[in-house]
Amino acid sequence: MPNLTEPLSPTPAPGKGAGVQRLFSAIARRYDLANHLLSGGMDFLWRRRAAAIVRAESPQTILDVATGSGDLALVLQKTCPTAHITATDFCQPMLDEARRKGVQNIVLADALALPFPDAAFDVLTVAFGLRNMEDWSRALRELARVIRPGGLLLVLDFSVPPQPLRTLYRFYLHHILPRLASLLTGEKAAYDYLADSIETFPSGPSMNALIQSCGFTEAKCQPLTGGIVSLYTARRT
Ligand SMILES: C[S@@+](CC[C@H](N)C(=O)[O-])C[C@H]1O[C@@H](n2cnc3c(N)ncnc32)[C@H](O)[C@@H]1O
Repeated sequence: MPNLTEPLSPTPAPGKGAGVQRLFSAIARRYDLANHLLSGGMDFLWRRRAAAIVRAESPQTILDVATGSGDLALVLQKTCPTAHITATDFCQPMLDEARRKGVQNIVLADALALPFPDAAFDVLTVAFGLRNMEDWSRALRELARVIRPGGLLLVLDFSVPPQPLRTLYRFYLHHILPRLASLLTGEKAAYDYLADSIETFPSGPSMNALIQSCGFTEAKCQPLTGGIVSLYTARRT
C-alpha cells in the first residue's frame, strides 16, 4: 500500500483535462461561495444525502475523487468518523482550499490514473467531478479498479430535469448562471463551460447503463431537487 497522503505530480490528460485544471485553479478561491449562492444552498442538502448513503455502508475506507475544495470529504469525515477517508483531486489550488478547511488525507492525483492499489476502498464517491473528466468510461473503469468487489460507487452530478422544470432550468443555466457567476468569480467562461458540460453529460437510464458497462452492477439513479441533480449508486462486480 503506498503512502496515501504522499502528493505526486499528476500528468494532466491532454485536451480537456488540462483545461479543466486551469479552470478550477482560476476559480478555487471563490468556488465555495459561487457554489452555495448559485445552488441556493441546496448543495449542502445534496452532499448530506450522499453522506447518509455512505454511512449506511459502515465503510472502513472511503475515497472521495475530484474532491475539489473538500465539501463532501468534510461531511464524510463528520458522518463516518471511524472510516479512513482519502480525498483526491488533480488541481492543487482546490486541494489547498480543502486542506485549509480541515480535510485530512489529501492526495494530488488524476482520477484517470489513481495511485492506489486494486480493491483498496469500500466506498468511492465523486461529486460534480465525473462530468469534468476527459473520458467518462475510462474514468469509471479506473474508479472500479480501486473499489473492492461488492463495494459502493456513489456519483452525484447535475442533470437536465424533465419538463416543466426543464425550460426554466435551461434558461437559468445558459443566461442567468454565467452572468451571476461572472460577478462572483470574474470567470464567466468557467460557467459557460458548466452549462455546456451539463447538457452533454448522460443522466438517468443512460448513466446507469454507462456505469454498468464499466465494472459495476445494480446501478440506480435518484433524482434530487426535481432532477437538477442525480445521485447514482452502483456495486463493484
Ligand atoms: C465541480 S468541482 C467538484 C468539487 C467537489 N467534489 C464538490 O462537490 O464541490 C470538480 C472537481 O473535479 C476535479 N477534476 C476534474 N477532472 C479531474 C481528473 N481527471 N482528476 C482529478 N480531479 C479532476 C477538478 O479539479 C475540480 O476540483
